[in-house]
Amino acid sequence: MIEFKDVSKIYSNGVVGLDHVNLTIEQGEFVGIIGLSGAGKSTLLRSINRMHDITSGSLMVDGLEISKLKTKELRNFRRKIGMIFQSFNLVTRTTVIRNVLMAKVPDMTFWRVLLGVFKKEDKIEALENLDKVGILDKAYIRADQLSGGQQQRVALARTLTQNPQIILADEPVAALDPVTAKQVMNDFKRINQEMNISILINIHHVELALEYADRIIGIRAGKIVYDGPSKDVTEEVLNTIYEGKIPNEMEEA
Ligand SMILES: Nc1ncnc2c1ncn2[C@@H]1O[C@H](COP(=O)(O)OP(=O)(O)O)[C@@H](O)[C@H]1O
Ligand SMILES: [Mg+2]
Repeated sequence: MIEFKDVSKIYSNGVVGLDHVNLTIEQGEFVGIIGLSGAGKSTLLRSINRMHDITSGSLMVDGLEISKLKTKELRNFRRKIGMIFQSFNLVTRTTVIRNVLMAKVPDMTFWRVLLGVFKKEDKIEALENLDKVGILDKAYIRADQLSGGQQQRVALARTLTQNPQIILADEPVAALDPVTAKQVMNDFKRINQEMNISILINIHHVELALEYADRIIGIRAGKIVYDGPSKDVTEEVLNTIYEGKIPNEMEEA
């Protein structure tokens, strides 16, 4: 469970990223976070795995106040949280399976890392996770030979190999064409349903958010202005979230 209690984040330059946010997310939820560019979506995600510290309030994950975690506890905590970015963040000059196995590096001995020797069971796990995202046949191909959608799937398989409890995805489909974006959203959905991993996705495609997420959190200028089921998101709600500037895709849909 993730619990924000009166959380604010004020950047050192005075910009308010989050403004008195209250939020509870249960294990296994699929949440879409929407809002204009600059609304605070990334700030919200980055607070959860403590990529930055919050300024005030309380942020608990499974009952742990994360601002209080010391170095080693923080490292263990972060292993439970997978992070997916728009830009995939792969080592493009090596194979797909080696990219996926990177998730095991924190558990490996110095010598194994140095020599690049992975355990057989880790390799099997990596292959299983590539299978889960439908690209098992690409395991021994160089990552830069893959399409954008396939690279995002490698990133997803790598994150799964970390055995996360929560996946935070910051605009994971923003760089993909609409058909590929849907395929990747389907992967997230399947992983959410089959593995009970909580998924929080920042997404600027309104219609994708409404189609795939069960719950929508709408942020405007650091404040949560909507929090409820996707099916209850009306045009009025969208106008509130987007300050009357609902992104075009909605009109086309
Ligand atoms: N490192 C930073 N330093 C200062 N201001 C920042 C920083 N990161 C984000 N901001 C500001 O905080 C606000 C929220 O940003 P962000 O969370 O990135 O929004 P979103 O992801 O919704 O586009 C914006 O005004 C942005 O300019
Ligand atoms: Mg962002």
